[in-house]
Amino acid sequence: MFEELSAINTRPAVYAEVTTPDLWTDPHISAQMLAAHLDPYVDLSSYRTEYVEQVVAWIIDRFGIRAGLSVADFGCGPGLYTTRLACTGASVTGLDLSSRSLGHATSLARAEGLSVRHLHQDYLTYRDDARYDLIILVMRDYCALPPDDRQALLHTVRAHLDAGGSFVFDVDSASAFAHVQERAVYAPSLMDGFWSDRPYFGFHNTYRYEREYVSLDKYEIFEADRKRTFFNWVRHFTPEELTGELTEAGFTGVEVLGDLTGSPYDGEAPQFAAIATTVSTAC
Ligand SMILES: C[S@@+](CC[C@H](N)C(=O)[O-])C[C@H]1O[C@@H](n2cnc3c(N)ncnc32)[C@H](O)[C@@H]1O
Repeated sequence: MFEELSAINTRPAVYAEVTTPDLWTDPHISAQMLAAHLDPYVDLSSYRTEYVEQVVAWIIDRFGIRAGLSVADFGCGPGLYTTRLACTGASVTGLDLSSRSLGHATSLARAEGLSVRHLHQDYLTYRDDARYDLIILVMRDYCALPPDDRQALLHTVRAHLDAGGSFVFDVDSASAFAHVQERAVYAPSLMDGFWSDRPYFGFHNTYRYEREYVSLDKYEIFEADRKRTFFNWVRHFTPEELTGELTEAGFTGVEVLGDLTGSPYDGEAPQFAAIATTVSTAC
């Protein structure tokens, strides 16, 4: 028992394991995530509805979204942005790993008589002939990726952006990292049954990785006949670091904003956003 508890409470090496897809593909957990997406009042899997509306209004205005333009939403989830953007007449594609969320997105678009192309694809490896005027990645998903996957994502984005196209996304800030506190929590049915529909015991450890500006929320879930571990990594950025990463990946223009409603950058805020552009279509 002591050894097992010691192992649970030992800090893993940074990016020791990546389990992000499990959150979106496990049948029970993806159902919890979808419920969180669709709660209009919380900023959990998706932002609350009021903010989603503001983001969509800003995107339409800033990028002149209209019929004739082509937009892709990477990690579109249940289609909160794809359906709203499709109302402009633009050609909209949503990509996601979660068949459950895509099912919801498809039904939503159909119910509203909108044509949205939904693809069950991994945005790290996605390739097709489509070229987009705008690619969006909402809810700070960039920060959940380890460095190699961030590079793979940026490569995919560049490969699918039309000349002069833009990539718009938000990230967790260095200021948010300052508030991350290391801690260890144990509870039967940790997070009220979020992790399984069967009885379980859950351990939640939060770690800080100072040099890397990374935090980890690690969940170890023990059921009668199985043990699973989930790693939720978050890379926190300064505008300079993010700009450096984008430039290294071949983006030639980077504009830093406060968030996805176009507000000005605020160094104290827990998040910020960026618009990355490139004049080249190489890749
Ligand atoms: C935090 S949710 C945000 C969903 C949506 N952008 C929103 O704000 O409503 C992240 C979404 O990205 C999807 N996702 C995560 N990794 C992905 C990957 N490698 N390729 C495609 N989709 C991915 C998940 O399935 C999930 O729907």
